[in-house]
Amino acid sequence: MNQTQLRKTSLSVADAARFKKTFELINTHLYSAEERIRAQARAFDPAMEGYVSYVCGSSGKRLRPALALLAGGATGKISASHVDLAVIVELIHIASLVHDDIMDGADLRRDQPTANAKWGNSTSVLLGDALFTHALRLATNFPDIEVCRRIADATAEVCTGEIIQTQRRFDLKLTTADYYRIVEMKTAALFAVASELGAFLSETTPEKIGALKQFGLKLGTAYQVYDDCIDLVGDEAEIGKTLGSDLRKGKLTLPLIFLLQSARCTGDQDALSSLLLNGEESDHAKIIALLSEGSALEQTAEAAQRLTYEAITALDPLDDNRFSDGLRSVAKYLQALIRRVSSAA
Ligand code: IPE
Ligand code: IPE
Ligand code: MG
Ligand code: MG
Repeated sequence: MNQTQLRKTSLSVADAARFKKTFELINTHLYSAEERIRAQARAFDPAMEGYVSYVCGSSGKRLRPALALLAGGATGKISASHVDLAVIVELIHIASLVHDDIMDGADLRRDQPTANAKWGNSTSVLLGDALFTHALRLATNFPDIEVCRRIADATAEVCTGEIIQTQRRFDLKLTTADYYRIVEMKTAALFAVASELGAFLSETTPEKIGALKQFGLKLGTAYQVYDDCIDLVGDEAEIGKTLGSDLRKGKLTLPLIFLLQSARCTGDQDALSSLLLNGEESDHAKIIALLSEGSALEQTAEAAQRLTYEAITALDPLDDNRFSDGLRSVAKYLQALIRRVSSAA
Protein backbone atom coordinates (compact mmCIF):
# COMPACT_ATOMS: atom_id res chain seq x y z
CA MET A 1 0.00 0.00 0.00
CA ASN A 2 1.46 3.38 -0.90
CA GLN A 3 1.64 6.50 1.24
CA THR A 4 -1.40 8.16 -0.35
CA GLN A 5 -3.56 5.13 0.38
CA LEU A 6 -2.32 4.94 3.96
CA ARG A 7 -3.15 8.60 4.44
CA LYS A 8 -6.57 8.06 2.91
CA THR A 9 -7.56 5.45 5.46
CA SER A 10 -6.84 8.02 8.24
CA LEU A 11 -6.40 5.39 10.93
CA SER A 12 -4.40 5.77 14.10
CA VAL A 13 -0.68 6.31 13.58
CA ALA A 14 0.06 3.02 15.36
CA ASP A 15 -2.27 0.98 13.10
CA ALA A 16 -0.84 2.56 9.98
CA ALA A 17 2.75 2.09 11.16
CA ARG A 18 2.22 -1.58 11.99
CA PHE A 19 0.67 -2.22 8.60
CA LYS A 20 3.44 -0.34 6.78
CA LYS A 21 6.05 -2.43 8.63
CA THR A 22 4.33 -5.60 7.43
CA PHE A 23 4.57 -4.50 3.83
CA GLU A 24 8.22 -3.51 4.36
CA LEU A 25 8.95 -7.10 5.44
CA ILE A 26 8.13 -8.30 1.95
CA ASN A 27 9.07 -5.12 0.12
CA THR A 28 11.65 -6.57 -2.26
CA HIS A 29 9.45 -9.45 -3.35
CA LEU A 30 6.37 -7.28 -3.56
CA TYR A 31 8.30 -4.86 -5.72
CA SER A 32 9.30 -7.70 -8.10
CA ALA A 33 5.67 -8.84 -8.24
CA GLU A 34 4.55 -5.27 -8.94
CA GLU A 35 7.00 -4.92 -11.82
CA ARG A 36 5.93 -8.26 -13.23
CA ILE A 37 2.22 -7.39 -12.95
CA ARG A 38 2.84 -4.15 -14.84
CA ALA A 39 4.95 -5.94 -17.45
CA GLN A 40 2.27 -8.52 -18.33
CA ALA A 41 0.88 -6.31 -21.10
CA ARG A 42 3.90 -7.28 -23.20
CA ALA A 43 2.73 -10.89 -23.24
CA PHE A 44 -0.36 -9.88 -25.22
CA ASP A 45 -1.00 -9.02 -28.83
CA PRO A 46 -0.17 -5.33 -29.49
CA ALA A 47 -3.92 -4.77 -30.04
CA MET A 48 -4.49 -5.70 -26.36
CA GLU A 49 -1.46 -4.09 -24.74
CA GLY A 50 -3.05 -0.72 -24.00
CA TYR A 51 -6.04 -2.26 -22.22
CA VAL A 52 -3.94 -4.68 -20.18
CA SER A 53 -1.38 -2.09 -19.13
CA TYR A 54 -4.20 0.26 -18.08
CA VAL A 55 -5.88 -2.22 -15.71
CA CYS A 56 -2.65 -3.81 -14.48
CA GLY A 57 -0.94 -0.47 -13.92
CA SER A 58 -3.63 0.90 -11.62
CA SER A 59 -2.72 1.14 -7.95
CA GLY A 60 -4.52 -1.61 -6.09
CA LYS A 61 -3.58 -2.44 -2.52
CA ARG A 62 -2.01 -5.74 -3.69
CA LEU A 63 -3.47 -7.53 -0.68
CA ARG A 64 -3.59 -10.97 -2.28
CA PRO A 65 0.07 -10.85 -3.44
CA ALA A 66 1.03 -9.73 0.08
CA LEU A 67 -0.77 -12.75 1.58
CA ALA A 68 0.97 -15.16 -0.81
CA LEU A 69 4.38 -13.74 0.14
CA LEU A 70 3.72 -13.50 3.89
CA ALA A 71 2.34 -17.06 3.95
CA GLY A 72 5.48 -18.20 2.12
CA GLY A 73 7.73 -16.46 4.66
CA ALA A 74 5.68 -17.67 7.63
CA THR A 75 6.22 -21.31 6.63
CA GLY A 76 9.66 -21.23 4.97
CA LYS A 77 11.73 -19.03 2.71
CA ILE A 78 10.16 -16.67 0.16
CA SER A 79 11.29 -17.81 -3.28
CA ALA A 80 10.78 -16.89 -6.93
CA SER A 81 7.79 -19.26 -7.04
CA HIS A 82 6.04 -17.16 -4.37
CA VAL A 83 6.50 -14.10 -6.57
CA ASP A 84 5.00 -16.07 -9.48
CA LEU A 85 2.03 -16.93 -7.28
CA ALA A 86 1.68 -13.28 -6.19
CA VAL A 87 1.53 -12.15 -9.82
CA ILE A 88 -1.05 -14.81 -10.73
CA VAL A 89 -3.45 -14.12 -7.85
CA GLU A 90 -3.38 -10.39 -8.56
CA LEU A 91 -4.09 -10.98 -12.27
CA ILE A 92 -7.07 -13.13 -11.37
CA HIS A 93 -8.25 -10.44 -8.97
CA ILE A 94 -7.90 -7.74 -11.64
CA ALA A 95 -9.81 -9.90 -14.16
CA SER A 96 -12.61 -10.40 -11.62
CA LEU A 97 -12.75 -6.63 -11.00
CA VAL A 98 -13.00 -5.89 -14.72
CA HIS A 99 -16.00 -8.22 -14.95
CA ASP A 100 -17.47 -7.07 -11.63
CA ASP A 101 -17.42 -3.43 -12.74
CA ILE A 102 -19.37 -4.34 -15.88
CA MET A 103 -22.00 -6.15 -13.82
CA ASP A 104 -22.19 -3.37 -11.23
CA GLY A 105 -22.25 -0.63 -13.87
CA ALA A 106 -19.35 0.99 -11.98
CA ASP A 107 -17.37 3.79 -13.58
CA LEU A 108 -14.61 4.39 -11.02
CA ARG A 109 -12.03 1.90 -9.79
CA ARG A 110 -8.66 2.56 -8.13
CA ASP A 111 -9.18 6.30 -8.61
CA GLN A 112 -9.54 6.02 -12.37
CA PRO A 113 -12.30 5.27 -14.89
CA THR A 114 -13.14 1.55 -15.14
CA ALA A 115 -12.41 -0.40 -18.31
CA ASN A 116 -16.14 -0.50 -19.09
CA ALA A 117 -16.38 3.27 -18.66
CA LYS A 118 -13.51 3.77 -21.07
CA TRP A 119 -14.08 1.11 -23.72
CA GLY A 120 -17.57 -0.30 -23.10
CA ASN A 121 -18.83 -3.67 -21.93
CA SER A 122 -18.01 -5.78 -24.99
CA THR A 123 -14.31 -4.99 -24.95
CA SER A 124 -14.18 -5.26 -21.16
CA VAL A 125 -15.77 -8.73 -21.02
CA LEU A 126 -13.13 -10.00 -23.42
CA LEU A 127 -10.36 -8.15 -21.59
CA GLY A 128 -11.42 -9.90 -18.37
CA ASP A 129 -11.49 -13.26 -20.17
CA ALA A 130 -8.01 -12.67 -21.59
CA LEU A 131 -6.65 -11.78 -18.14
CA PHE A 132 -8.16 -14.88 -16.51
CA THR A 133 -6.74 -17.05 -19.27
CA HIS A 134 -3.34 -15.43 -19.09
CA ALA A 135 -3.17 -15.96 -15.31
CA LEU A 136 -4.01 -19.65 -15.75
CA ARG A 137 -1.44 -19.96 -18.53
CA LEU A 138 1.21 -18.57 -16.13
CA ALA A 139 0.03 -21.07 -13.52
CA THR A 140 0.88 -23.99 -15.83
CA ASN A 141 4.58 -23.13 -15.28
CA PHE A 142 4.52 -24.56 -11.75
CA PRO A 143 6.16 -28.00 -11.88
CA ASP A 144 3.50 -29.47 -9.58
CA ILE A 145 0.18 -29.54 -11.46
CA GLU A 146 -1.66 -29.39 -8.13
CA VAL A 147 -0.79 -25.66 -7.85
CA CYS A 148 -2.37 -24.87 -11.20
CA ARG A 149 -5.40 -26.99 -10.34
CA ARG A 150 -6.00 -25.17 -7.05
CA ILE A 151 -5.68 -21.79 -8.77
CA ALA A 152 -8.17 -22.88 -11.46
CA ASP A 153 -10.57 -24.17 -8.78
CA ALA A 154 -10.42 -20.88 -6.88
CA THR A 155 -10.97 -18.91 -10.10
CA ALA A 156 -14.05 -20.98 -10.91
CA GLU A 157 -15.31 -20.36 -7.37
CA VAL A 158 -14.90 -16.59 -7.75
CA CYS A 159 -16.98 -16.66 -10.95
CA THR A 160 -19.59 -19.00 -9.44
CA GLY A 161 -19.95 -16.74 -6.40
CA GLU A 162 -20.58 -13.75 -8.67
CA ILE A 163 -23.14 -15.76 -10.65
CA ILE A 164 -25.03 -16.94 -7.55
CA GLN A 165 -25.05 -13.36 -6.29
CA THR A 166 -26.55 -12.27 -9.63
CA GLN A 167 -29.17 -15.03 -9.47
CA ARG A 168 -30.23 -13.89 -6.00
CA ARG A 169 -30.50 -10.15 -6.77
CA PHE A 170 -33.52 -8.50 -5.12
CA ASP A 171 -34.26 -11.79 -3.34
CA LEU A 172 -35.38 -10.67 0.11
CA LYS A 173 -35.34 -14.28 1.31
CA LEU A 174 -31.55 -14.38 1.15
CA THR A 175 -30.33 -15.71 4.53
CA THR A 176 -27.08 -14.91 6.31
CA ALA A 177 -25.92 -18.45 5.38
CA ASP A 178 -26.67 -17.77 1.68
CA TYR A 179 -24.79 -14.47 1.96
CA TYR A 180 -21.71 -16.04 3.56
CA ARG A 181 -21.65 -18.78 0.94
CA ILE A 182 -21.59 -16.17 -1.84
CA VAL A 183 -18.88 -14.14 -0.12
CA GLU A 184 -16.71 -17.18 0.60
CA MET A 185 -16.83 -18.01 -3.09
CA LYS A 186 -16.54 -14.61 -4.74
CA THR A 187 -13.93 -13.08 -2.42
CA ALA A 188 -12.56 -15.42 0.23
CA ALA A 189 -11.63 -18.22 -2.21
CA LEU A 190 -8.88 -16.06 -3.72
CA PHE A 191 -7.58 -14.89 -0.31
CA ALA A 192 -7.58 -18.57 0.72
CA VAL A 193 -5.72 -19.88 -2.31
CA ALA A 194 -3.10 -17.10 -2.08
CA SER A 195 -2.40 -17.98 1.57
CA GLU A 196 -2.70 -21.75 1.16
CA LEU A 197 -0.44 -21.96 -1.89
CA GLY A 198 2.06 -19.56 -0.31
CA ALA A 199 2.49 -22.26 2.34
CA PHE A 200 2.28 -25.14 -0.16
CA LEU A 201 5.16 -23.67 -2.19
CA SER A 202 7.25 -23.52 1.00
CA GLU A 203 6.76 -27.30 1.26
CA THR A 204 5.48 -27.10 4.81
CA THR A 205 3.21 -29.55 6.66
CA PRO A 206 -0.42 -30.21 5.62
CA GLU A 207 -1.48 -28.82 9.00
CA LYS A 208 0.15 -25.44 8.31
CA ILE A 209 -1.14 -25.35 4.71
CA GLY A 210 -4.66 -26.00 6.06
CA ALA A 211 -4.20 -23.31 8.72
CA LEU A 212 -3.29 -20.73 6.10
CA LYS A 213 -6.20 -21.71 3.89
CA GLN A 214 -8.51 -21.21 6.86
CA PHE A 215 -6.86 -17.87 7.65
CA GLY A 216 -7.44 -16.68 4.06
CA LEU A 217 -11.06 -17.82 4.11
CA LYS A 218 -11.86 -15.99 7.34
CA LEU A 219 -9.89 -12.86 6.45
CA GLY A 220 -11.36 -12.70 2.93
CA THR A 221 -14.89 -13.07 4.28
CA ALA A 222 -14.31 -10.34 6.88
CA TYR A 223 -12.88 -8.11 4.18
CA GLN A 224 -15.94 -8.47 1.95
CA VAL A 225 -18.28 -7.86 4.92
CA TYR A 226 -16.32 -4.66 5.63
CA ASP A 227 -16.45 -3.69 1.94
CA ASP A 228 -20.21 -4.22 1.95
CA CYS A 229 -20.52 -1.70 4.79
CA ILE A 230 -18.35 0.75 2.87
CA ASP A 231 -20.55 0.37 -0.20
CA LEU A 232 -23.41 1.76 1.90
CA VAL A 233 -21.74 4.31 4.15
CA GLY A 234 -18.30 4.95 2.64
CA ASP A 235 -17.02 8.01 0.83
CA GLU A 236 -16.39 7.47 -2.87
CA ALA A 237 -13.63 10.08 -3.12
CA GLU A 238 -11.79 8.50 -0.20
CA ILE A 239 -12.20 4.89 -1.37
CA GLY A 240 -11.53 5.65 -5.04
CA LYS A 241 -14.21 3.38 -6.51
CA THR A 242 -17.92 3.61 -7.33
CA LEU A 243 -20.01 2.96 -4.20
CA GLY A 244 -23.73 2.42 -3.71
CA SER A 245 -23.98 -0.19 -6.45
CA ASP A 246 -25.05 -2.97 -4.07
CA LEU A 247 -28.39 -1.24 -3.44
CA ARG A 248 -28.77 -0.25 -7.10
CA LYS A 249 -28.11 -3.82 -8.25
CA GLY A 250 -30.22 -5.50 -5.57
CA LYS A 251 -27.34 -7.15 -3.69
CA LEU A 252 -28.69 -8.10 -0.28
CA THR A 253 -25.52 -7.64 1.75
CA LEU A 254 -25.16 -8.42 5.46
CA PRO A 255 -26.12 -4.94 6.80
CA LEU A 256 -29.30 -5.10 4.70
CA ILE A 257 -30.11 -8.64 5.83
CA PHE A 258 -29.77 -7.51 9.47
CA LEU A 259 -31.89 -4.42 8.73
CA LEU A 260 -34.61 -6.64 7.25
CA GLN A 261 -34.47 -8.93 10.30
CA SER A 262 -35.03 -6.01 12.66
CA ALA A 263 -37.81 -4.60 10.44
CA ARG A 264 -39.58 -7.96 10.72
CA CYS A 265 -39.54 -7.60 14.51
CA THR A 266 -40.89 -4.05 14.49
CA GLY A 267 -43.52 -4.66 11.81
CA ASP A 268 -41.78 -2.37 9.29
CA GLN A 269 -40.95 -5.18 6.91
CA ASP A 270 -43.32 -4.20 4.09
CA ALA A 271 -42.13 -0.60 4.00
CA LEU A 272 -38.45 -1.62 3.95
CA SER A 273 -39.06 -4.34 1.34
CA SER A 274 -40.63 -1.87 -1.04
CA LEU A 275 -37.73 0.57 -0.51
CA LEU A 276 -35.27 -2.22 -1.31
CA LEU A 277 -37.19 -3.46 -4.34
CA ASN A 278 -38.09 -0.04 -5.66
CA GLY A 279 -34.49 0.81 -6.45
CA GLU A 280 -34.92 4.61 -6.70
CA GLU A 281 -31.92 6.71 -5.63
CA SER A 282 -34.11 8.69 -3.18
CA ASP A 283 -35.23 5.44 -1.53
CA HIS A 284 -31.61 4.46 -1.07
CA ALA A 285 -31.02 7.57 1.02
CA LYS A 286 -33.92 6.46 3.24
CA ILE A 287 -32.38 3.00 3.64
CA ILE A 288 -29.04 4.53 4.66
CA ALA A 289 -30.89 6.69 7.21
CA LEU A 290 -32.56 3.56 8.64
CA LEU A 291 -29.16 1.89 8.84
CA SER A 292 -27.69 4.72 10.85
CA GLU A 293 -30.70 4.82 13.21
CA GLY A 294 -30.73 1.09 14.03
CA SER A 295 -28.08 -1.44 14.98
CA ALA A 296 -27.69 -3.33 11.67
CA LEU A 297 -24.37 -1.70 10.82
CA GLU A 298 -23.05 -2.30 14.31
CA GLN A 299 -24.15 -5.95 14.11
CA THR A 300 -22.40 -6.31 10.76
CA ALA A 301 -19.19 -4.76 12.10
CA GLU A 302 -19.32 -7.22 15.03
CA ALA A 303 -19.71 -10.15 12.62
CA ALA A 304 -16.71 -8.91 10.60
CA GLN A 305 -14.63 -8.50 13.77
CA ARG A 306 -15.48 -12.06 14.85
CA LEU A 307 -14.22 -13.32 11.50
CA THR A 308 -10.92 -11.45 11.91
CA TYR A 309 -10.45 -13.06 15.35
CA GLU A 310 -11.13 -16.47 13.79
CA ALA A 311 -8.56 -15.65 11.11
CA ILE A 312 -5.94 -14.84 13.75
CA THR A 313 -6.77 -17.99 15.73
CA ALA A 314 -6.42 -20.08 12.58
CA LEU A 315 -2.73 -19.13 12.57
CA ASP A 316 -2.07 -20.93 15.88
CA PRO A 317 -0.32 -23.94 14.28
CA LEU A 318 2.29 -21.65 12.68
CA ASP A 319 5.70 -20.96 14.21
CA ASP A 320 6.17 -17.47 15.58
CA ASN A 321 8.23 -15.38 13.19
CA ARG A 322 8.15 -11.95 11.55
CA PHE A 323 5.97 -13.18 8.71
CA SER A 324 3.34 -14.93 10.80
CA ASP A 325 3.26 -11.73 12.86
CA GLY A 326 2.85 -9.87 9.58
CA LEU A 327 -0.20 -11.98 8.71
CA ARG A 328 -1.68 -11.17 12.13
CA SER A 329 -1.07 -7.49 11.59
CA VAL A 330 -2.95 -7.57 8.26
CA ALA A 331 -5.95 -8.96 10.20
CA LYS A 332 -5.45 -6.31 12.91
CA TYR A 333 -5.34 -3.59 10.29
CA LEU A 334 -8.68 -4.83 8.99
CA GLN A 335 -9.99 -4.75 12.58
CA ALA A 336 -9.01 -1.07 12.74
CA LEU A 337 -10.83 -0.38 9.45
CA ILE A 338 -13.93 -2.15 10.78
CA ARG A 339 -13.80 -0.10 14.00
CA ARG A 340 -14.13 3.00 11.83
CA VAL A 341 -17.39 1.57 10.46
CA SER A 342 -18.70 0.85 13.97
CA SER A 343 -17.79 4.31 15.18
CA ALA A 344 -19.64 5.79 12.19
CA ALA A 345 -22.72 3.69 13.07
C1 IPE B 1 -11.97 -5.13 -4.05
O1 IPE B 1 -10.79 -5.66 -3.54
C2 IPE B 1 -12.98 -6.21 -4.22
C3 IPE B 1 -13.38 -6.85 -2.96
C4 IPE B 1 -13.18 -8.08 -2.71
C5 IPE B 1 -14.05 -6.09 -1.96
P1 IPE B 1 -9.61 -4.74 -3.00
O2 IPE B 1 -10.14 -3.80 -1.97
O3 IPE B 1 -8.49 -5.63 -2.57
O4 IPE B 1 -9.24 -3.90 -4.29
P2 IPE B 1 -7.85 -3.31 -4.78
O5 IPE B 1 -7.10 -4.46 -5.36
O6 IPE B 1 -7.13 -2.71 -3.60
O7 IPE B 1 -8.22 -2.29 -5.80
C1 IPE C 1 -16.70 -8.36 -5.13
O1 IPE C 1 -17.62 -7.56 -4.74
C2 IPE C 1 -15.81 -8.32 -6.20
C3 IPE C 1 -15.23 -9.56 -6.65
C4 IPE C 1 -15.07 -10.62 -5.97
C5 IPE C 1 -14.80 -9.56 -8.02
P1 IPE C 1 -17.92 -6.04 -4.88
O2 IPE C 1 -18.75 -5.78 -6.07
O3 IPE C 1 -18.43 -5.60 -3.56
O4 IPE C 1 -16.47 -5.40 -5.08
P2 IPE C 1 -16.27 -3.84 -5.29
O5 IPE C 1 -16.94 -3.16 -4.14
O6 IPE C 1 -16.89 -3.51 -6.60
O7 IPE C 1 -14.78 -3.65 -5.25
MG1 MG D 1 -18.49 -4.28 -7.51
MG1 MG E 1 -18.23 -3.69 -2.81
